[in-house]
Amino acid sequence: MTKTALITGATSGIGEATAYEFAKQGIHLILCGRRVERLNTIKVALEKLTIVHTLNFDIRDRHKTFKAIESLPEAFKNIDILINNAGNAHGLDPIQDGDLDDWDTMIDINVKGLLYVSKAIIPQMTERHSGHIINIGSSAGKEVYPKGNVYCASKHAVLAITEGMRLDLNPYGIKVTAINPGMVETEFSKVRFKGDPIADSVYQGFKALEAKDVAEIIYFAVSRPAHVNIADLLVFPTAQANSTTVQKEL
Ligand SMILES: NC(=O)c1ccc[n+]([C@@H]2O[C@H](COP(=O)([O-])OP(=O)(O)OC[C@H]3O[C@@H](n4cnc5c(N)ncnc54)[C@H](OP(=O)(O)O)[C@@H]3O)[C@@H](O)[C@H]2O)c1
Repeated sequence: MTKTALITGATSGIGEATAYEFAKQGIHLILCGRRVERLNTIKVALEKLTIVHTLNFDIRDRHKTFKAIESLPEAFKNIDILINNAGNAHGLDPIQDGDLDDWDTMIDINVKGLLYVSKAIIPQMTERHSGHIINIGSSAGKEVYPKGNVYCASKHAVLAITEGMRLDLNPYGIKVTAINPGMVETEFSKVRFKGDPIADSVYQGFKALEAKDVAEIIYFAVSRPAHVNIADLLVFPTAQANSTTVQKEL
């Protein structure tokens, strides 16, 4: 039977690439994000391959999150796969200089937003005794790097939530997976550095992961047989050994 996937943060980077990868496989798609024009453009492109519905909301707003998911038309109501991907880093400052608005934004999106979306979808999965939740964590969820403080904390939280979900949803046969990438060349750095040209230097001198690389891994995880759950996966570009060790040719 054809599956339906809801992807948060489908307007760029890993989420958008996952939408393309899933569409190629005929998976029905619910694409979420704040930038409505991008949602529309991606919908038009992917409707050649599968059926697509878009939901335009900010995952920080719990009421809009629930309202959006409740508004799904009948054909999209049963969600088999949830990709909790929306998230970003905001700023890169030592803790003593950190910006409170950046901290709020990261905790509100990366942690609380992920929880709101999950809370809106999990009940239908427990009722059906099936489903697959993939949380996009980060190598920053496994290792804290200098000036990463609150972003790393938010991704450590994603990992803890993933493990908690896997335990609590175990009686219901629901798969829960964490995919934790290292450096992926997306809009991530532009958001982190708020348009500062330093963002362009982040991926210079080495070959970072592409969003498509992560999307293919996500599809691998969702396409395993029913008895196989990829619990936790860490993926780096070959040039990267950990958060602070990257072989660059400059
Ligand atoms: N790039 C990396 O190096 C890297 C490494 C490890 C982990 N990750 C993780 O991978 C995930 C995807 O990041 P990416 O690299 O693909 O970055 P990206 O290109 O900046 O994409 C981020 C996505 O999240 C969405 N989003 C952000 N805030 C949102 C909000 N408040 N409500 C709804 N959607 C929101 C954005 O859509 P709208 O702006 O349209 O809402 C966008 O689609 C994130 O969780 C990130 O932490 C990235």
